[in-house]
Amino acid sequence: MIGILYALALLRSTTAWGHVGRWGEESQRNGTDGGIGEKCSCEAFLPSSTFNMQDLKMVEDVAVEVHHKLELELGKMETYEIKITAYAMKIVNLTVEIKKMEKDPDAFNEAYIESIKVQIKQVEALVVELQLSVQGSATVFKVLRETVTSMMLTLTRLEVKYDKNLVLKTRREYIKIQLQLEECERRHQEIFNPNIGNCNHNGIVSLSKPTVTQFNAHLSATHYFGGWGKDSKPLRGYESMYWYGSYTGPYIYDFYLYSDYDKLILRHSFKRHDIPSGWEGTGNNYIVHGNTIYYQHNTPFSMTKLNLTSSKYDYRVIPEASPRFSYSYSSNQNMDFAADENGLWVIYATEGSKGKLVVAKIDVPSFGIEDTWSTTAYKQLVGNAFMVCGVMYATRSVSLNREEIFYSYDTKSGQESQLSIPFEKFQEKYTNLHYNPSDQKLYMYNDGYYVSYNVKFN
Ligand SMILES: *[C@@H]1O[C@H](CO)[C@@H](O)[C@H](O)[C@H]1NC(C)=O
Ligand SMILES: *[C@@H]1O[C@H](CO)[C@@H](O)[C@H](O)[C@H]1NC(C)=O
Ligand SMILES: *[C@@H]1O[C@H](CO)[C@@H](O)[C@H](O)[C@H]1NC(C)=O
Repeated sequence: MIGILYALALLRSTTAWGHVGRWGEESQRNGTDGGIGEKCSCEAFLPSSTFNMQDLKMVEDVAVEVHHKLELELGKMETYEIKITAYAMKIVNLTVEIKKMEKDPDAFNEAYIESIKVQIKQVEALVVELQLSVQGSATVFKVLRETVTSMMLTLTRLEVKYDKNLVLKTRREYIKIQLQLEECERRHQEIFNPNIGNCNHNGIVSLSKPTVTQFNAHLSATHYFGGWGKDSKPLRGYESMYWYGSYTGPYIYDFYLYSDYDKLILRHSFKRHDIPSGWEGTGNNYIVHGNTIYYQHNTPFSMTKLNLTSSKYDYRVIPEASPRFSYSYSSNQNMDFAADENGLWVIYATEGSKGKLVVAKIDVPSFGIEDTWSTTAYKQLVGNAFMVCGVMYATRSVSLNREEIFYSYDTKSGQESQLSIPFEKFQEKYTNLHYNPSDQKLYMYNDGYYVSYNVKFN
């Protein structure tokens, strides 16, 4: 399907051919077709800090309201998709006509050329209009996200304070709502950018507000260390699986797997991998890629993998990697695993680099290092790093609740850039931050909370 930005780009290139300054005929602007020009009038509902049964009632009422708004948005998504398809056809037709004119300008009379110009202006106006409504939906999603997050956190607090079973029905309701919201956002994303998995962009321009999915499955305020996310290259049948692990220190001794988002939220894992003695890990910068967990191991100091299909462990020593340099938020973070559209990576610092980050590409079949790149970012000044389309991005703290992507290194060109892409944090510190190319999101384990961000590209 054609995306809205692509449609605009096509039009821009088409209209470069000639411009007519006015509207030729009555446009189809009516404002009655689902959200055009409509202002978003939702508010975020913030829970109070004391709890009683009225809180539960309030959370339930909000669920009804959010559900209703999502139904409306889903209807709009359908309208958008139909319109985009229709506009795309018009653009294709007009492009064909223009090609003909370019080949043989004398064969067309003035009036016909004029009518084509008018049609181009019309389609352009329609696409711009559609773009505005699609952006309006993005605002609605943002507010709904904040509302849902706030309600989920209230539920977690009620759960701790009261009986779990009392809130279970409401929790299920919110899981449904979250899935619906995900569906809306996925379709919205497709309208804007139908090319998940493609690297046809110039890098990250911004991150969304954080989505706080849940407090950790241990429901423990002391489990500051850990990670969560999805497989970045799932096997068939495992596309909706989530993984999680958390600890009170920078260790790794077990992993939990959940068959889908519902199960993650309800904390019903289908598998717990209790890492056998001798294979325990450290550092918490692990990820799952191709149904295999990649993590750091200290005896010997190496990168290690646990194949979830075969339950087999294996390790490789990287002689240059140094155990002396860690990220700023936690000790022991010497090897940071990352996956992007181009495959699997590990980021570390070496004695030779004097603590500056080195990016290494992992050859998955042999579990060896296939190439390395030296950056100028000092590991100890970096909060965390991740890869997108062969580009390493590094983050650092700005304040207690703000962070920024401040540096990037492109392994394709060797080019580095100083950046300032700010984003909000929910809590101060995080021990795991990685990008997932399958949904173009960042996943963060933020002082015990599961947090994620949508990534916007240029
Ligand atoms: C726009 O509104 C006019 C008058 O209300 C109506 O006649 C026309 O059919 C509408 N056009 C569209 C595309 O909805
Ligand atoms: C595009 O052109 C085809 C063939 O000429 C025609 O059937 C179709 O209706 C046109 N579509 C639009 C949206 O103008
Ligand atoms: C995991 O094990 C399965 C079954 O033995 C094998 O086919 C697959 O290649 C392994 N994957 C990795 C990444 O080691």
